[in-house]
Amino acid sequence: MTPSRLIVVGSSNTDLIIRAPRLPGPGETVLGGDLTSAAGGKGANQAVAAARLGASVTFVGRVGSDAHGQQALNHLNREGLDTRFVVTDAAAPSGVAFIVVGPQGQNQITVAPGANLRLSTDDVHAALPAFEQASVLLLQLETPLETVLAAARLGRAHGLHVVLNPAPAQPLPEELYALIDVLTPNQHEATQLTGEPEPQRAAEVLLRRGCRCVVVTLGEAGVYLRDAQHSQRSPAHQVEAVDATAAGDAFNGALAVALTRQDALPHAVQFAQAAAALSVTRLGAQPSLPTLAEVQAWLAQSAG
Ligand code: RIB
Repeated sequence: MTPSRLIVVGSSNTDLIIRAPRLPGPGETVLGGDLTSAAGGKGANQAVAAARLGASVTFVGRVGSDAHGQQALNHLNREGLDTRFVVTDAAAPSGVAFIVVGPQGQNQITVAPGANLRLSTDDVHAALPAFEQASVLLLQLETPLETVLAAARLGRAHGLHVVLNPAPAQPLPEELYALIDVLTPNQHEATQLTGEPEPQRAAEVLLRRGCRCVVVTLGEAGVYLRDAQHSQRSPAHQVEAVDATAAGDAFNGALAVALTRQDALPHAVQFAQAAAALSVTRLGAQPSLPTLAEVQAWLAQSAG
């Protein structure tokens, strides 16, 4: 089988993680466990998620010319990604995220974006050869909005299926909605984008703005899928949560892989839910991302 081709344009971070007995409140100090570090960043997480699930992935991003950047790049290469269009930027540090993980796997994340904020429209256009060979483009919002918009325009111009995970949420220009095939907010992001607390109503608003399909991830309440053919909720898998970090990234990477295979959307959502469920059972962002064999085994077990 020819490997599916996917482009991810986005961020790469080094995650510095502490597990704690509870998440600290404002002004509070909480003693936690030992510090661990792991490869992260929504863009890189989604790219690695897709590669582990069998896609052929090009990652377009920026890292600093520091130790974190070198480690991140080495890691992406070891994962088999095409990193020809990752720029090493001497003028900014690599992205870093501080993550506190609570006892039920809930987290708090603060990101120092560094070089990610210097990913430019020129960087996107330099990756044109990859756009010419891909079928799906996957984007998030940890890089400048004008860069995301340039990538979506280029993707659309080359007939790619454009998927935007609007995380972290911010107001989006009207033009961007019209370029998106699948928008994948979580419930919080859907509300931030629309002002609607209820996922069905939020999805209606987002469809009216021009994207063709909305997939709202609802954590333990499952996923709500809405497009011209579907308005359906699929229940979540029950798992023992260790760390929810990158569950959304596992979901988006897997969804994009299923779209490169031209799976029907309900089936793509199921596949993505299995990948996300497995990632929640493990600590860290990229260390938690499952392989294709693991997702297939999980799906087979859930079906039986
Ligand atoms: O989605 C999880 C990711 O968000 C972490 O890996 C962190 O780096 C932040 O980008």
